[in-house]
Amino acid sequence: MFKTTAFCGAALFALTLQPAAAATFNTLTGAAPIVVAHRGASGYLPEHTLGGYELAIQMGADYIEPDVQITADGQLVAMHDGSLTRTTNVEALFTPRNGGYAVKDFTLAEIKTLTVEPTGALAAADSTYPGFTPSMAEPYRVPTLDEVLSFLTAYNDSHGTEIGVYPESKTPYNQPQNIKIVETLLAHGYDAPEDKVILQSFVNASLAEMHGLMDEAGAEALYAQLGQATNLLGQWGVTGTDGFFSLGDLVGVADGVGVSVNSITEEFIAAAHALGLTVHGYTFRPLSEEAAFAQIQRYIDWGIDGFFTDYTDFGRAVVDANMAPVPVPAALPLLAAGLGGLALLRRRRRA
Ligand code: G3P
Ligand code: CA
Repeated sequence: MFKTTAFCGAALFALTLQPAAAATFNTLTGAAPIVVAHRGASGYLPEHTLGGYELAIQMGADYIEPDVQITADGQLVAMHDGSLTRTTNVEALFTPRNGGYAVKDFTLAEIKTLTVEPTGALAAADSTYPGFTPSMAEPYRVPTLDEVLSFLTAYNDSHGTEIGVYPESKTPYNQPQNIKIVETLLAHGYDAPEDKVILQSFVNASLAEMHGLMDEAGAEALYAQLGQATNLLGQWGVTGTDGFFSLGDLVGVADGVGVSVNSITEEFIAAAHALGLTVHGYTFRPLSEEAAFAQIQRYIDWGIDGFFTDYTDFGRAVVDANMAPVPVPAALPLLAAGLGGLALLRRRRRA
């Protein structure tokens, strides 16, 4: 009895002593899916603000996502909606212009007087988050893209992190907007793969334009076509604001696609991967960690390469759970040998 117990015990001990293997994923590269802080920590703090981006990074974001629009005086601001009304106090400070409050009708100086208000489902009305103190003086103003990149560079430098940036040139197509996005990235030295830039747009013409401008400057980044995953006459592709583009059409223009999670299927991911394209999904809005697992896990199983979420903390928890170390397979033969030895000893005893 002692011998068999010792034999099996040794095998199990050896199993536990084996170095843990990194979990592998069904992503294009086998690396863990990236967690993209959609509009910052938009579920908790005012969206597209430096404070919100900072909290998202502290929650474990791999990338922060500024939506980018051009102002009346040609400056770039981080703002999702075409109108300033949903997320800021613009109506309290200004009268309407051209019948509304479009970003393109206001100057940067005017937009800088606004305060961004919380809109997330788990946000506190006073723009606070437990235990979080923003590092900047005015964390909930509308930032320029220039300020977003300055903040990110300083954060990465001071914390030794490599958080990337995933700027979106918002619709509609706007050439000056695209040119200035590229100029701003280059001005901040974002021109090499290690800088972790992914440019995105629902407008294929914008994506191609930014890609071309970066190429002309000798700068490298990644590019993602946004839209709905669509199967048209048996061909998978993405429907953006300027039409349907098959995955084959996108090769060369984009490195990947960013598609609505509701439109993603396992087959779509496989088709994209077969062409070397990554698949990022938008937007997961789970209101608890439990809900995050329920929403996200099957996409990870299918091989999704990344996802946008308003709740970086919950998204991070799901990815990290999938990264839990597993025993290396090399230990399994030893365990099998141990169990085999046990069976042999039993047979001998019976004999
Ligand atoms: O850019 C990916 C995702 O953010 C697209 O949705 O409308 O939030 O910009 P939207
Ligand atoms: Ca976006």
